Amino acid sequence: MARKTHKLNTMKHRKKVETKDSLERRSFVKITGLATGGLLTSSIPFHSMAQTGNVQKIKLAVVGCGGRGTGAVVQALTADPDVELVAMADAFKDRVETSLGAIQEHFEGTDRIAVKEKNLFYGFDAFKMAIDLADVVILATPPGFRPQHFEYAIEQDKHVFMEKPVATDPVGVRRVLETARLAKEKKLNVVVGLQRHYEKKYLRLYDQVRKGAIGKITSGQVYWNGEGVWVRPREAGQSEMEYQMRNWYYFNWLCGDHILEQHIHNIDVANWFLGEYPSSAQGMGGREVRKGKDHGEIFDHHFVEFTYPSGAVISSQCRHQKGCFNRVDEAFKGSDGSLIISKGIITDLGGSEKFNYAKIYDEKTDPNPYQVEHDRLFAAIRNKNELLTDAENGAKSTLAAIMGRMATYSGDIITWEQAMKSDLQLVKDDLDWASAPPTLPDAQGNYKVPVPGVTKYS
Ligand SMILES: NC(=O)c1ccc[n+]([C@@H]2O[C@H](COP(=O)([O-])OP(=O)(O)OC[C@H]3O[C@@H](n4cnc5c(N)ncnc54)[C@H](O)[C@@H]3O)[C@@H](O)[C@H]2O)c1
Repeated sequence: MARKTHKLNTMKHRKKVETKDSLERRSFVKITGLATGGLLTSSIPFHSMAQTGNVQKIKLAVVGCGGRGTGAVVQALTADPDVELVAMADAFKDRVETSLGAIQEHFEGTDRIAVKEKNLFYGFDAFKMAIDLADVVILATPPGFRPQHFEYAIEQDKHVFMEKPVATDPVGVRRVLETARLAKEKKLNVVVGLQRHYEKKYLRLYDQVRKGAIGKITSGQVYWNGEGVWVRPREAGQSEMEYQMRNWYYFNWLCGDHILEQHIHNIDVANWFLGEYPSSAQGMGGREVRKGKDHGEIFDHHFVEFTYPSGAVISSQCRHQKGCFNRVDEAFKGSDGSLIISKGIITDLGGSEKFNYAKIYDEKTDPNPYQVEHDRLFAAIRNKNELLTDAENGAKSTLAAIMGRMATYSGDIITWEQAMKSDLQLVKDDLDWASAPPTLPDAQGNYKVPVPGVTKYS
């Protein structure tokens, strides 16, 4: 089991931040703990699913069989003993094979994994074939494809677990918002992988803030400062499309830059705790250290000031540079006190402690939020006791982070309305292996990097 755990953790956390912060611990999937942590059992009453009739098994498909897709399949199968994996889809055959191997290894000695070879699909259209076969789908490709995949899944009446972010451009955000409305209308559950909403410590601290423990929030700081993530260098014989699809982190149509892809978690916590979305963003950023050809077109640092309708100002910083101060965290100041989430401590204006999470709860034994997401999803599907509707917030927090990116790329102040109405569209639906990617290198193999004051994004 130790070997299995290591393998899945490694796959899932290629982009783990090298920080001593406790968030590092949270970002690990504790596969060993999943077997015992908060599982649904067969004692939960089964009710028929509207979409599938009186079928006790829930059919699961995964689209995007990388680190996160693989981890999410394990969590879905762990959440409910009657979930069966029926289909897998990825752009690349080798990614499906590696993922299936890891899932089989995790459930070795059981009969849980019986996905048929004919239900393993590859290529840009693979998602449709996999989604068609399932009741619930996991969408875990790079975020550029999420709006198209989410729309198709909801049109086909599927429940959805989808990873954050949910788009890389405002046109995609609006499509997800429209699809979120349709999902609600159809009573389909949607969970978005902003797992802090499913994490006990965040939930307890949020309760305190709602009860007024720090008064009205006036300012805050949110951070994702780390060393950066993997690079998948260009290989001989790759087409430009294959290269960008493999090395997706560094291309905005696929990834959206790290202010969106990772820092969305912290910007989302600010939106959640404030109970509103930013009305404007202004900031600065660039690439100082990570600027090779394989680093595509994204920045390695951003610093944004988000102003909210209530007047609160949140400073947001994210950095992908080695050898610097690292922190992944959120902190808020209010009219009656302060909160630092990593510490779990609330203090009054004089600095005296009012609440200390660690004095009440043992964080080490808290349920793994990645598992809780799936426990809640499958309980909601079976029992119909709640409808999970994360997509609207997922889309709006995605837009907030995109707004930050528009501000750092352009050097302008970007308002929520400008971002929401923007025609910026980085991804089209009809891509295939013969398509030219939306961004292309120059004759020297360099990609165009945004230049503040020159790049226009509003
Ligand atoms: N919530 C979290 O803490 C968390 C952690 C890690 C990753 N994620 C999110 O999960 C998503 C995937 O990240 P990852 O780390 O698993 O990346 P990954 O590169 O390991 O996996 C992505 C997979 O999607 C496949 N893919 C790309 N385009 C596709 C398409 N059009 N159709 C089907 N498959 C396609 C790729 O080939 C790859 O196998 C990202 O959105 C990321 O932000 C979230």
